[in-house]
Amino acid sequence: MIIPFIDLFAQYHSIKKEVDSAIQKVINSSDFVQGEEVDKFEIEFADYLNIKNCITLNSGTDALTIGLRALDLSPGDEIIIPTYNFIAAAVAAIENRLKPVFVDVDPHDFGMNLEDLEKKINPRTKAIIVVHLFGQPDKISEIRQVIKKSGRKIYLIEDACQAHGAKYKGRKVGSFGNFSVFSFYPTKNLGAFGDGGAILTNDTILARKFRLIKQYGQKKRYFSEIFGINSRLDSIQAAVLRVKLKHLDKWNSKRILLANLYFKYFAESKIQIKTPRVFKERKSVYHLFVIRASKRDELKEFLDRKGIKSMVHYPQSLHQQKVYKYLGYKKGDFPNAEKITKQNLSIPIYPELKKQKIRQIVDEINSFYYSRIPL
Ligand SMILES: Cc1ncc(COP(=O)(O)O)c(C=O)c1O
Repeated sequence: MIIPFIDLFAQYHSIKKEVDSAIQKVINSSDFVQGEEVDKFEIEFADYLNIKNCITLNSGTDALTIGLRALDLSPGDEIIIPTYNFIAAAVAAIENRLKPVFVDVDPHDFGMNLEDLEKKINPRTKAIIVVHLFGQPDKISEIRQVIKKSGRKIYLIEDACQAHGAKYKGRKVGSFGNFSVFSFYPTKNLGAFGDGGAILTNDTILARKFRLIKQYGQKKRYFSEIFGINSRLDSIQAAVLRVKLKHLDKWNSKRILLANLYFKYFAESKIQIKTPRVFKERKSVYHLFVIRASKRDELKEFLDRKGIKSMVHYPQSLHQQKVYKYLGYKKGDFPNAEKITKQNLSIPIYPELKKQKIRQIVDEINSFYYSRIPL
């Protein structure tokens, strides 16, 4: 028995006809860059999220980098970022000569620890990047409250790269901040057949600036007005994403159904596994299903031997990365994040995964603990 961590071929297979025909259409038109498919996808994705402007780009990392660049901040200005996180937000800050300031994780939702957030805000703080990690929306209202209480003008940025279609208080994430960023990396809930990303905003002035920056600072071809780069989603990727967007809600519902099975089976077993918490006002789309387990590394090896593929998201928090040693953080500065990185294990969840496999995965996890812990 092999249960892969993700099965992108199975997903392709389920929409093969639609996707093949969409790709062929682009090839026939040879409209490969900035084509009609890109324009249409931008409109459809903006509509899906109910946000005015969608600007597609080469990746989620570019979306963060271009987003921060458009804010016209000064070198050394501080950007608050959760330390338990993928590295892209910190990379974007550094690319813009800004200082990443890390915040500890809230172990209940893998989002920001509000107490630590409040402590880290100071006169140099210019933006907070909220990350809806693993598909779980973070506490937007509480974070806004902290910003308000500080009395400072601080941009709120949403990193929704792992949360396409997730909802907070009935509204899709991505529409709460000054702008939000999405990734279409192939394994994401909405994934292309290569790299891709987008930045979304209701702020028309910012939107214009993002468009300028993504194409060499040019409104008119060959006439650059401001410094810019080249960051484009190509037409084939846009065509694939247009097909997949139609299936996204159905796929997210399947992820939720599988997550509910995990909750049920883990609740029935007596082992000490912590599953993600469910919040009444937040709809997670379970980009990943991350459990917290004792003897995590042994469990992972055991599952590997049984043919069940799991991953660790993430083995290190950002403050523990060698590259950010110069920021001066030390062991113990982020106790929650340091604890979680030793316990977290992502187990398979994707729309094509059969329901019976969830039973098998939980059974194997149970058998690992039953053979080790006297009950
Ligand atoms: C939370 C988060 N932010 C940003 C990114 C960067 O996206 P991309 O890989 O498209 O550059 C990712 C990608 O994994 C991510 O998970």
